[in-house]
Amino acid sequence: MFGSGRVESLGRVVRELSAQVAIVDGKLSPVQQRNLERAWQCKVIDRTGLILEIFGARARTREGRLQVDLAALEYQRSRLVRSWTHLERQRGGFGFTGGPGETQIEADRRQIAERIARLKKELGQLTRTRELHRSSRKKVPYPVVALVGYTNAGKSTLFNRLTDSDVIAKDMLFATLDPTMRGVTLPSGRRIILSDTVGFISDLPTTLIAAFRATLEEVVEADLVVHVRDASHPDSGQQRLDVLAVLSELGLSADSEDRMIEVFNKIDLLEAGKRSALKAKTNGDGHLAAVSALSGDGLEDLQHELDRSLSGSRSTLELEVSLSDGATLAWLYRNGDVLSREDVNGVARVTVGLDASNIARFHRRRETNELSLHQ
Ligand code: GTP
Repeated sequence: MFGSGRVESLGRVVRELSAQVAIVDGKLSPVQQRNLERAWQCKVIDRTGLILEIFGARARTREGRLQVDLAALEYQRSRLVRSWTHLERQRGGFGFTGGPGETQIEADRRQIAERIARLKKELGQLTRTRELHRSSRKKVPYPVVALVGYTNAGKSTLFNRLTDSDVIAKDMLFATLDPTMRGVTLPSGRRIILSDTVGFISDLPTTLIAAFRATLEEVVEADLVVHVRDASHPDSGQQRLDVLAVLSELGLSADSEDRMIEVFNKIDLLEAGKRSALKAKTNGDGHLAAVSALSGDGLEDLQHELDRSLSGSRSTLELEVSLSDGATLAWLYRNGDVLSREDVNGVARVTVGLDASNIARFHRRRETNELSLHQ
């Protein structure tokens, strides 16, 4: 990875800075890591190690923490396997037959395997609980809008702006590790569930993608995916491709485009000319928006855009239901989004948002009820 001259010159930098940790943006084998630590006399970690450290420090829910632990153990196990092969080769070279090294490593491996099995079981239980929550949410069918985006794009800031909540928004990578969900009312009165998700990064080690798949399943099932981009970042275009690649790995492909809105965030950081060009480009395009989550610029348009995108599948109806028909009222509350209700003369006037399939179900239900009333 590094020539000896480079190792030496980097070592000088480490000493000058009295650095305690050196981070290599790449993958190190355990042997490379050990050699660099010896040469530089400081702790050395690689990209996966760093991501695991950050994930570990930021995980907030139990599921998040378990997922990080699992990913860290899988990582550790893969490294043990490699060190073991390395030792075995050494052992062969020296003509030993077995030795304390092998026993220790095998014991470590067994212990890790047992912990992995335990964690997977616990995670399995949590995933089932999450599925239950999800299906109970489906019964109160507020559309789910998921914010996704490259890490540091401004998802949490936008989430806070839209929900007036105080999910941690800090200038830290991966401030969000667990999806956070909050109910929000759009200008039309439509209720939605807004979901903030973990930030994506390029070259996410595959073990980590797998570990966070469960968390990101919310995204695949969301009614609408809002892709938040940092419009001021020099690598904005590449970051976009990275995010789309992860989404397609999760099963959300290009044909899901009508379920996606791309939001250019941080437009306050753009120079005036670029900002107005971007605004002109996004204006009137139902799948694009330009905002500053920080200053609030463009947020109203974004909310209307969300409303418009969701109304494709949903309509708002004005219905009259007899107050004596408690079952139908309960059905509307359960399956629709009751926006307002007024009870006059034994009749409830209800304004309700229903999606197409539920409108059909409602009419069928009414017909059956009327038939049975007339019999
Ligand atoms: P991860 O949790 O790492 O995925 O980050 P995130 O996408 O949730 O980003 P977050 O909301 O934490 O914002 C990252 C940084 O960008 C913070 O310092 C925010 O204050 C800043 N930021 C977010 N939106 C804007 C914006 O519109 N303009 C400016 N200037 N800064 C913003």
